[in-house]
Amino acid sequence: MTLDTASKAQLTPPRYPVITIDGPSGAGKGTVAWRLAKELDYQLLDSGALYRIVGLKAFEAGLLATDKLDEDAIATLTEQLSINFEPNEATGNVDILIDGALIGRDIRNETVGGYASKVAVFPKVRQALLYLQQQMAEQSGVIADGRDMGTVVFPDADAKVYLTASGESRAQRRVAQLEQAGEAADYAAILATIQERDIRDETRSASPSKPAEDALVLDSSALTAEQVYHAIKAHCQAQGICF
Ligand code: DC
Repeated sequence: MTLDTASKAQLTPPRYPVITIDGPSGAGKGTVAWRLAKELDYQLLDSGALYRIVGLKAFEAGLLATDKLDEDAIATLTEQLSINFEPNEATGNVDILIDGALIGRDIRNETVGGYASKVAVFPKVRQALLYLQQQMAEQSGVIADGRDMGTVVFPDADAKVYLTASGESRAQRRVAQLEQAGEAADYAAILATIQERDIRDETRSASPSKPAEDALVLDSSALTAEQVYHAIKAHCQAQGICF
């Protein structure tokens, strides 16, 4: 059977709204992305979690135990992972399942953040995750949190934000979080790790972390989470997203 142009057009998947929030870790992206996703009833795409999973799996497979990393081997490992996002009615969040197993807090530490940043420099690894991320916008509205959401993954997004903050203020926030959780925190070591990761993420040639040309750039160093939320909400409203 052949389809005429009109029928093909009807088969094009619906295009749902996408809001991208890029920027370095610790600038407050996660908090505001989560709140917007709840308020708008959109899915939350935590793309950093995907790179963290690949980083952890690559580490466990012994692929990070050398100075000269093997891009092809890490990309093959990425392609072989079965990654599923499943809405969790109880928490209201999207669970990430890898090979059927629920991913928990064990990817959220600085060590795994470092592994993620190392595997994220490779174009073949990024390519292996690209379609998976784009597919989310075929199912519902998406709040996409990452580094290249507005530049590469969703270049046609309806509203784009680049949320940044000084390394010092991000390190201070991290120290406060750890202390609140009763854990030891070394400000100088945390700042050094943040700066090292920023340099790698911003200077890599494949999809570096940078604002899209049409993004609102917001520095949260001296802002509360509430002020960040209202600034981003106002930007989304100005771009025609109603809430
Ligand atoms: O946002 P995060 O700290 O969870 O991200 C972990 C690392 O993953 C980050 O240092 C760089 C990489 N990353 C990326 O390259 N592209 C993304 N869209 C998201 C994260």
